[in-house]
Amino acid sequence: MPRVYNFNAGPAALPLEVLEEAQKELVDYKGSGMSILESSHRGKEYAAVHEEATANYADLLGVSDDYKILFLHGGASTQFAMIPMNLLGKDQTADYVNSGAWAAKAIKEATKIGKVNIAANCEKDMPTRVPSINELKLTENAAYVHITSNETISGAQWKEFPKTDAPLVADMSSDILSRPFDATQFALIYAGAQKNLGPAGTALVVIRKDLANQTGDNNIPTMLKYSTHVETDSLYNTPSCFTIYLMMLVSRWLKKLGLSNIYKQNIDKAAKLYAAIDSSAFYQGAAIPECRSDMNVTFRLPNEDLDAKFVKEAGKQGLKGLKGHRSVGGLRASIYNAFPPDGIDALISFMKDFESKNG
Ligand SMILES: Cc1ncc(COP(=O)(O)O)c(C=O)c1O
Repeated sequence: MPRVYNFNAGPAALPLEVLEEAQKELVDYKGSGMSILESSHRGKEYAAVHEEATANYADLLGVSDDYKILFLHGGASTQFAMIPMNLLGKDQTADYVNSGAWAAKAIKEATKIGKVNIAANCEKDMPTRVPSINELKLTENAAYVHITSNETISGAQWKEFPKTDAPLVADMSSDILSRPFDATQFALIYAGAQKNLGPAGTALVVIRKDLANQTGDNNIPTMLKYSTHVETDSLYNTPSCFTIYLMMLVSRWLKKLGLSNIYKQNIDKAAKLYAAIDSSAFYQGAAIPECRSDMNVTFRLPNEDLDAKFVKEAGKQGLKGLKGHRSVGGLRASIYNAFPPDGIDALISFMKDFESKNG
């Protein structure tokens, strides 16, 4: 069966060569006589995978030994709670930027745990956007400042990050390692793996070591304390071995291609698609041009019936997963690192054809 163009927002397209490598090694991992799925997480085969994944992500992100690379359970959503539990002390305030649905979810968890200041709010703005840096109203001596680097649902992305006195924390679930950036301006970065890094269920967390257990709160459940995982190299309990194995294969693929090449490919893909949207009055981009995401291209047709027809007919032609998030409707083309450039050409050609028949 031929592979389709997969525009899903996450779980999302993985590099074909990664899937093929995993398939090749699935039943007998490197002559061990068993699958990596069946190997002990304390055995030498898995240990090598875990070490390589850790080293590769540190290398790709350009972080030194001052940072720890962690692979944690519960996806990015568990980080929404772990961050305030570990970093927000009783008498402190955390600054959160509400840039959309994902930031709002992070805020919801943080407010259960401590004091939160909303440094800017454009969650419901239409067209969608992220705030400009000079809009931010930051608290003096905040415990940290939290941003969402790319709002997967609205399709708005930070192009430049704020410089803050307080530790900067970012949810990079939907754009991590899609562009070169200075990771050391952040105290903590987290990302659900299922978009640019591998399968779902695991979050990659990059934490400055001095931040782990910042509140000193010993009542935090063991599994929810960063220090537990920092001290045990994410091996306090059984890690998501197979997910981390696939993340390791993706990290090899990323290293082979090079981050600047991936970035160039990503901006070319996005620019082509936005140009197609802008060249026609039939399609309407959802985000303001300065904030348009290179990962999640959101747009609409003149009415919801046409949106639905577009999704259905595109699907029949092997262009899958173009329906916008259920909370906002419209269309969304998620074009992460592994999404092939020829899929953009296929979508643009479909868009032209659809417009000529329905415009
Ligand atoms: C920006 C962002 N943050 C957090 C999440 C939640 O990730 P998870 O499902 O791994 O908890 C998502 C998922 O789509 C996301 O796009």
